[in-house]
Amino acid sequence: MADDTTLRHIAVIMDGNGRWAQKKGLPRVAGHRKGAEVVKEITRAAGELGVEFLTLYAFSTENWKRSQDEVSSLMGLLRQYLKSDLKEIQDNGVRIRFIGEREMLDADIVKMMNKLERDTVGNTKMTLCIALSYGSRQEIVNAAQKIAMLVKRGDISPEDVDVKMFSDMLYTRDMPDPDLIIRTSGEQRISNYLLWQAAYSEFFFTPTFWPDFNKTELEAIIKNFSSRERRYGKN
Ligand code: IPE
Ligand code: IPE
Ligand code: MG
Repeated sequence: MADDTTLRHIAVIMDGNGRWAQKKGLPRVAGHRKGAEVVKEITRAAGELGVEFLTLYAFSTENWKRSQDEVSSLMGLLRQYLKSDLKEIQDNGVRIRFIGEREMLDADIVKMMNKLERDTVGNTKMTLCIALSYGSRQEIVNAAQKIAMLVKRGDISPEDVDVKMFSDMLYTRDMPDPDLIIRTSGEQRISNYLLWQAAYSEFFFTPTFWPDFNKTELEAIIKNFSSRERRYGKN
Protein backbone atom coordinates (compact mmCIF):
# COMPACT_ATOMS: atom_id res chain seq x y z
CA MET A 1 0.00 0.00 0.00
CA ALA A 2 1.33 3.42 -0.94
CA ASP A 3 2.39 5.68 1.90
CA ASP A 4 0.89 9.13 2.48
CA THR A 5 3.05 11.10 0.13
CA THR A 6 3.43 8.68 -2.77
CA LEU A 7 2.32 10.47 -5.89
CA ARG A 8 1.91 7.99 -8.71
CA HIS A 9 -1.08 9.45 -10.49
CA ILE A 10 -2.12 13.06 -11.11
CA ALA A 11 -5.43 13.80 -12.84
CA VAL A 12 -6.18 17.27 -14.15
CA ILE A 13 -9.37 19.11 -15.08
CA MET A 14 -7.97 21.58 -17.59
CA ASP A 15 -10.50 24.37 -17.28
CA GLY A 16 -10.61 28.06 -18.12
CA ASN A 17 -9.51 28.23 -21.76
CA GLY A 18 -12.55 30.26 -22.78
CA ARG A 19 -12.25 32.78 -19.95
CA TRP A 20 -8.53 33.17 -20.58
CA ALA A 21 -9.27 34.13 -24.18
CA GLN A 22 -12.18 36.36 -23.24
CA LYS A 23 -10.00 38.27 -20.78
CA LYS A 24 -7.62 39.01 -23.64
CA GLY A 25 -10.40 39.94 -26.06
CA LEU A 26 -9.69 36.85 -28.17
CA PRO A 27 -12.08 34.17 -29.50
CA ARG A 28 -12.51 31.10 -27.25
CA VAL A 29 -10.64 28.93 -29.73
CA ALA A 30 -7.48 30.99 -29.05
CA GLY A 31 -7.70 29.76 -25.46
CA HIS A 32 -8.02 26.17 -26.61
CA ARG A 33 -5.01 26.61 -28.88
CA LYS A 34 -2.86 27.96 -26.05
CA GLY A 35 -4.29 25.24 -23.80
CA ALA A 36 -2.99 22.55 -26.17
CA GLU A 37 0.52 24.00 -25.86
CA VAL A 38 0.27 23.85 -22.09
CA VAL A 39 -0.73 20.19 -22.37
CA LYS A 40 2.63 19.52 -24.01
CA GLU A 41 4.53 21.47 -21.38
CA ILE A 42 2.77 19.81 -18.45
CA THR A 43 3.15 16.33 -19.91
CA ARG A 44 6.89 16.89 -20.20
CA ALA A 45 7.05 18.37 -16.70
CA ALA A 46 5.13 15.47 -15.15
CA GLY A 47 7.59 13.02 -16.69
CA GLU A 48 10.53 15.03 -15.35
CA LEU A 49 8.94 15.08 -11.89
CA GLY A 50 8.62 11.30 -11.87
CA VAL A 51 4.85 11.03 -12.11
CA GLU A 52 3.84 7.59 -13.42
CA PHE A 53 0.32 8.40 -14.63
CA LEU A 54 -1.04 11.70 -15.86
CA THR A 55 -4.73 11.80 -16.78
CA LEU A 56 -6.01 14.89 -18.57
CA TYR A 57 -9.66 15.82 -19.01
CA ALA A 58 -9.75 17.13 -22.56
CA PHE A 59 -13.43 16.84 -23.52
CA SER A 60 -16.43 15.68 -21.52
CA THR A 61 -19.58 13.91 -22.71
CA GLU A 62 -21.40 17.12 -21.75
CA ASN A 63 -19.05 19.25 -23.89
CA TRP A 64 -20.85 17.86 -26.98
CA LYS A 65 -23.63 20.27 -26.02
CA ARG A 66 -21.48 23.31 -26.82
CA SER A 67 -22.05 25.29 -30.03
CA GLN A 68 -21.29 23.42 -33.23
CA ASP A 69 -18.64 26.02 -33.97
CA GLU A 70 -16.77 25.39 -30.77
CA VAL A 71 -17.07 21.61 -30.99
CA SER A 72 -15.69 21.59 -34.52
CA SER A 73 -12.77 23.85 -33.64
CA LEU A 74 -11.98 21.62 -30.65
CA MET A 75 -12.07 18.55 -32.90
CA GLY A 76 -9.78 20.33 -35.36
CA LEU A 77 -7.27 21.06 -32.61
CA LEU A 78 -7.58 17.49 -31.41
CA ARG A 79 -6.68 16.17 -34.87
CA GLN A 80 -3.56 18.37 -34.90
CA TYR A 81 -2.64 17.28 -31.40
CA LEU A 82 -3.04 13.59 -32.23
CA LYS A 83 -0.97 13.97 -35.40
CA SER A 84 1.98 16.02 -34.24
CA ASP A 85 2.13 16.64 -30.49
CA LEU A 86 1.39 13.09 -29.45
CA LYS A 87 3.90 11.79 -31.99
CA GLU A 88 6.58 13.74 -30.14
CA ILE A 89 5.33 12.53 -26.77
CA GLN A 90 5.32 8.96 -28.07
CA ASP A 91 8.93 9.31 -29.22
CA ASN A 92 9.85 10.31 -25.68
CA GLY A 93 8.87 6.88 -24.36
CA VAL A 94 5.42 7.78 -23.05
CA ARG A 95 2.57 5.28 -23.21
CA ILE A 96 -0.62 6.90 -24.48
CA ARG A 97 -4.13 5.76 -23.74
CA PHE A 98 -7.60 7.20 -24.04
CA ILE A 99 -10.68 6.89 -21.87
CA GLY A 100 -14.19 7.88 -22.94
CA GLU A 101 -16.98 7.18 -25.40
CA ARG A 102 -15.16 6.57 -28.66
CA GLU A 103 -18.38 5.97 -30.62
CA MET A 104 -19.15 9.67 -30.35
CA LEU A 105 -15.93 10.71 -32.10
CA ASP A 106 -15.25 10.84 -35.86
CA ALA A 107 -13.83 7.67 -37.37
CA ASP A 108 -10.52 9.24 -38.45
CA ILE A 109 -9.92 10.45 -34.90
CA VAL A 110 -10.70 7.04 -33.40
CA LYS A 111 -8.33 5.44 -35.90
CA MET A 112 -5.47 7.71 -34.78
CA MET A 113 -6.30 7.05 -31.13
CA ASN A 114 -6.23 3.28 -31.63
CA LYS A 115 -2.92 3.47 -33.47
CA LEU A 116 -1.30 5.64 -30.80
CA GLU A 117 -2.41 3.20 -28.12
CA ARG A 118 -1.12 0.22 -30.05
CA ASP A 119 2.20 1.84 -30.95
CA THR A 120 2.99 2.97 -27.40
CA VAL A 121 1.90 -0.12 -25.49
CA GLY A 122 5.54 -1.01 -24.73
CA ASN A 123 6.56 2.48 -23.54
CA THR A 124 7.38 2.59 -19.86
CA LYS A 125 8.49 6.14 -19.01
CA MET A 126 5.06 7.44 -18.04
CA THR A 127 1.44 6.82 -19.01
CA LEU A 128 -0.45 9.76 -20.45
CA CYS A 129 -4.16 9.06 -20.27
CA ILE A 130 -6.44 11.43 -22.15
CA ALA A 131 -10.11 11.62 -21.20
CA LEU A 132 -11.92 12.37 -24.44
CA SER A 133 -15.66 12.37 -24.77
CA TYR A 134 -15.43 11.11 -21.20
CA GLY A 135 -18.19 11.02 -18.63
CA SER A 136 -17.82 9.14 -15.40
CA ARG A 137 -21.48 8.29 -14.95
CA GLN A 138 -21.56 6.71 -18.39
CA GLU A 139 -18.37 4.81 -17.54
CA ILE A 140 -19.99 3.44 -14.39
CA VAL A 141 -23.21 2.55 -16.22
CA ASN A 142 -21.19 0.70 -18.88
CA ALA A 143 -19.45 -1.29 -16.15
CA ALA A 144 -22.79 -2.18 -14.57
CA GLN A 145 -24.09 -3.35 -17.94
CA LYS A 146 -21.06 -5.56 -18.54
CA ILE A 147 -21.47 -7.13 -15.11
CA ALA A 148 -25.20 -7.64 -15.62
CA MET A 149 -24.42 -9.40 -18.88
CA LEU A 150 -21.96 -11.76 -17.16
CA VAL A 151 -24.55 -12.60 -14.52
CA LYS A 152 -27.22 -13.15 -17.15
CA ARG A 153 -24.95 -15.54 -19.05
CA GLY A 154 -24.31 -17.41 -15.82
CA ASP A 155 -20.56 -16.68 -15.92
CA ILE A 156 -20.68 -15.14 -12.45
CA SER A 157 -23.21 -14.87 -9.66
CA PRO A 158 -24.30 -11.57 -8.06
CA GLU A 159 -22.23 -12.30 -4.93
CA ASP A 160 -19.07 -12.38 -7.03
CA VAL A 161 -19.42 -8.67 -7.78
CA ASP A 162 -16.97 -6.73 -5.65
CA VAL A 163 -14.97 -3.50 -5.74
CA LYS A 164 -12.09 -5.10 -7.61
CA MET A 165 -14.33 -6.58 -10.31
CA PHE A 166 -16.16 -3.29 -10.72
CA SER A 167 -12.88 -1.36 -11.03
CA ASP A 168 -11.74 -3.82 -13.68
CA MET A 169 -14.78 -2.99 -15.80
CA LEU A 170 -13.96 0.72 -15.93
CA TYR A 171 -11.89 2.43 -18.65
CA THR A 172 -9.18 2.97 -16.05
CA ARG A 173 -8.68 -0.75 -15.38
CA ASP A 174 -5.07 -1.51 -14.45
CA MET A 175 -4.37 2.12 -13.53
CA PRO A 176 -3.96 3.21 -9.90
CA ASP A 177 -6.55 5.67 -8.62
CA PRO A 178 -5.52 9.33 -8.87
CA ASP A 179 -3.62 10.48 -5.77
CA LEU A 180 -4.17 14.11 -6.68
CA ILE A 181 -6.83 15.83 -8.78
CA ILE A 182 -6.06 19.38 -9.86
CA ARG A 183 -8.68 21.71 -11.32
CA THR A 184 -7.71 25.03 -12.86
CA SER A 185 -9.88 28.13 -13.41
CA GLY A 186 -11.24 28.53 -9.88
CA GLU A 187 -14.26 26.26 -10.26
CA GLN A 188 -14.56 23.84 -7.37
CA ARG A 189 -16.48 20.93 -8.81
CA ILE A 190 -15.77 17.55 -10.36
CA SER A 191 -17.85 17.86 -13.55
CA ASN A 192 -18.39 14.12 -14.07
CA TYR A 193 -14.68 13.23 -13.85
CA LEU A 194 -13.38 9.98 -12.34
CA LEU A 195 -16.21 9.75 -9.79
CA TRP A 196 -15.42 6.18 -8.77
CA GLN A 197 -11.64 6.58 -8.93
CA ALA A 198 -11.62 9.79 -6.83
CA ALA A 199 -12.86 8.05 -3.67
CA TYR A 200 -9.69 8.97 -1.74
CA SER A 201 -8.01 11.48 -4.04
CA GLU A 202 -6.65 14.72 -2.69
CA PHE A 203 -8.05 17.80 -4.45
CA PHE A 204 -6.32 21.01 -5.38
CA PHE A 205 -8.19 23.94 -6.89
CA THR A 206 -6.24 26.80 -8.41
CA PRO A 207 -7.68 30.05 -9.79
CA THR A 208 -5.15 29.96 -12.67
CA PHE A 209 -6.76 29.51 -16.08
CA TRP A 210 -5.39 26.43 -17.85
CA PRO A 211 -3.53 28.41 -20.57
CA ASP A 212 -1.52 30.15 -17.80
CA PHE A 213 -0.74 26.94 -15.90
CA ASN A 214 2.92 25.90 -15.88
CA LYS A 215 5.56 23.61 -14.42
CA THR A 216 6.38 25.97 -11.53
CA GLU A 217 2.79 25.90 -10.35
CA LEU A 218 2.63 22.14 -10.77
CA GLU A 219 5.71 21.78 -8.59
CA ALA A 220 4.16 24.01 -5.91
CA ILE A 221 0.99 21.89 -5.93
CA ILE A 222 3.02 18.70 -5.62
CA LYS A 223 4.83 20.22 -2.64
CA ASN A 224 1.49 21.06 -1.05
CA PHE A 225 0.29 17.50 -1.71
CA SER A 226 3.32 16.03 0.03
CA SER A 227 2.49 17.93 3.21
CA ARG A 228 -1.00 16.43 3.42
CA GLU A 229 -2.01 13.52 5.57
CA ARG A 230 -4.07 10.88 3.81
CA ARG A 231 -6.07 8.77 6.24
CA TYR A 232 -8.33 6.52 4.19
CA GLY A 233 -10.80 6.48 7.05
CA LYS A 234 -8.30 5.19 9.57
CA ASN A 235 -7.32 6.99 12.78
C1 IPE B 1 -11.68 23.88 -20.79
O1 IPE B 1 -11.90 25.24 -20.97
C2 IPE B 1 -11.61 23.13 -22.10
C3 IPE B 1 -12.81 22.31 -22.38
C4 IPE B 1 -13.78 22.09 -21.56
C5 IPE B 1 -12.86 21.66 -23.68
P1 IPE B 1 -13.37 25.83 -21.16
O2 IPE B 1 -13.68 25.83 -22.63
O3 IPE B 1 -14.34 25.11 -20.30
O4 IPE B 1 -13.16 27.33 -20.65
P2 IPE B 1 -14.12 28.15 -19.72
O5 IPE B 1 -14.42 27.29 -18.53
O6 IPE B 1 -15.35 28.44 -20.51
O7 IPE B 1 -13.34 29.36 -19.37
C1 IPE C 1 -14.83 20.14 -17.47
O1 IPE C 1 -14.88 21.50 -17.77
C2 IPE C 1 -14.45 19.37 -18.69
C3 IPE C 1 -13.08 19.59 -19.19
C4 IPE C 1 -12.16 20.34 -18.63
C5 IPE C 1 -12.75 18.90 -20.40
P1 IPE C 1 -16.27 22.21 -18.13
O2 IPE C 1 -15.94 23.64 -18.39
O3 IPE C 1 -16.93 21.47 -19.21
O4 IPE C 1 -17.09 22.01 -16.79
P2 IPE C 1 -18.28 22.86 -16.18
O5 IPE C 1 -19.31 22.98 -17.26
O6 IPE C 1 -17.73 24.20 -15.81
O7 IPE C 1 -18.73 22.09 -14.98
MG1 MG D 1 -15.01 25.37 -18.42
